[in-house]
Amino acid sequence: MKKRILGQEKSQLVADWHALERVFIRPENEATRVTLVKYMEQILFGLHEFLNKNVGITEEISLKELAKHFTDTRIGKDPEKKLKDVITDIIKEIAPHAVNVASPYFVGHMTSAIPFFMVHLKTIVSALNQNVVKLETSKVVSVIEKQVIAKIHRLIYNMGEEFYQAHVQNTTTSLGCFTEGGTAANLTALWVARNAAFPPKQGFRGIEAEGIAQAFKAYDVDRAVVLVSIRAHYSLKKSGGILGIGNQNVIAVDVDERNKINIDLLRQEIDRIETSGRTRIIAIVGIAGSTETGSVDPLEEISAICRKKKIHFHVDAAWGGPTLMSEKYKHLLKGIELADSVTIDGHKQFYMPMSCGMLYFQDPSIMDLMAYHASYIIRPGSVDLGIKTFSGSREANSLILDSALKIMGTRGYALLIEHGIDVAAEFASEIEKRENFELVTRPELNILTYRVFPKSLKEAYEAGTDEIKKAVNERLNEINRIVQQAQRESGNSFVSRTAFKMKGFPEEQVVVLRSVIMNPMTTIAILKAILDEQEKIYLDWESGKLKNKGRFRIADEMEKKG
Ligand SMILES: Cc1ncc(COP(=O)(O)O)c(C=O)c1O
Repeated sequence: MKKRILGQEKSQLVADWHALERVFIRPENEATRVTLVKYMEQILFGLHEFLNKNVGITEEISLKELAKHFTDTRIGKDPEKKLKDVITDIIKEIAPHAVNVASPYFVGHMTSAIPFFMVHLKTIVSALNQNVVKLETSKVVSVIEKQVIAKIHRLIYNMGEEFYQAHVQNTTTSLGCFTEGGTAANLTALWVARNAAFPPKQGFRGIEAEGIAQAFKAYDVDRAVVLVSIRAHYSLKKSGGILGIGNQNVIAVDVDERNKINIDLLRQEIDRIETSGRTRIIAIVGIAGSTETGSVDPLEEISAICRKKKIHFHVDAAWGGPTLMSEKYKHLLKGIELADSVTIDGHKQFYMPMSCGMLYFQDPSIMDLMAYHASYIIRPGSVDLGIKTFSGSREANSLILDSALKIMGTRGYALLIEHGIDVAAEFASEIEKRENFELVTRPELNILTYRVFPKSLKEAYEAGTDEIKKAVNERLNEINRIVQQAQRESGNSFVSRTAFKMKGFPEEQVVVLRSVIMNPMTTIAILKAILDEQEKIYLDWESGKLKNKGRFRIADEMEKKG
């Protein structure tokens, strides 16, 4: 029986089969067409206006207050709203309470402004609605995906024209895959590495088929581990849980004073593992742009260890990967080309909309270790990209990246990357000049950490005993928590907060402010204003005036200063 959906009868909205046909098939006449185009205009420019108008991060309303408006858990039987009204509601009621990640004052996370054309490209992907799990629902888009994968593979590995001609459209080999994000890419890399570490042999069909217990029995071990630095993203630990080796077996090695994995400690850890025996090292991970500090591990040195020991070398370049497009800074990732696998996020420094991750492999056959087939799709011998991916159905994100690369060129992306790195360096110098701040981690790429460290406490700290130092640090942790929270809540700007152990504080967490410079509109003048605001919040708090925090408007202060 036909249902009535989304129609309007008299002044009431009711389900209506005729309306459903209009929604699903096409606009029925010129007037409807014009209306639909108007909606698109509303989305593009209504939202854009919001982003331009609201310099602040978010309106001053608490999450608790907001949540009170979202407690109705029933689905209405009859339609409640027309598309036009839904769009207007989102633009007028929802967007102002969302986070304006596009603001140049939003410098706290790896999510930022995206080029305007990304919205068009995302719309095309939705309109085409291709499913790249299989050729039968994507055709040319699967072929484009293979091509763009080869382009990024070439950026990392630069294997030469002959190699790429042999593999770019090869239906049996794979140079990589698209994933939901960096987490899924890291998981997939370790999944392949795990399977490579416990391959099939006489009497054993491989770990993928028989599982961990049988694999350990077949290879006469009790444990499988992954080695990372303490600065590694938590997705690697999570992968240890998912892959059944146990997240405690994703072993975190300490870092040196520049937040890079300490190679001597890494060697010692490997020696310890080998001496105690009965443990297989599945992979060693190098980070190319750590989440908290942006530091890059010594990739060449890790690679040399991995090659000698025949261990899978994975590089998590979810953040830093696109630095390869900058002639000026690509040397910072030296050694990435030696990795067995590399994670890069599209939704980070390729400035793509959420969400897009990618994973690349040096060996075009290694992904066979995670191949799956089904009789209705992803059949053996087919080109279906879903044969070798963690995901099933998947949107054609590759189309967005392919188009963006054409629009921007590597030079366009390099300008963005170089801006971030250069401005972060300038920001670090500015922090060092200010007597009430301390630069905690110097930026290598475009991420840095620092903290409010009042001059008066610096003197006490420097002259103090270990006990005094500890007490000062606790006080600083409190100050920085308060400053970050008050700044976030006042909604003018946003810097994130993290905590880690630092040299000199081996037992304690040090609370730091974390700044990620990726928005091309973020200038040093804006960053100076953010520091001014933080200093003002601290001074107000110290003198008991913090309740006035909302009155301090960064834009007013900048205006005053001309
Ligand atoms: C270095 C690194 N790896 C992996 C990830 C996880 O990426 P995603 O959030 O896209 O899953 C992140 C996210 O910030 C990251 O910084």
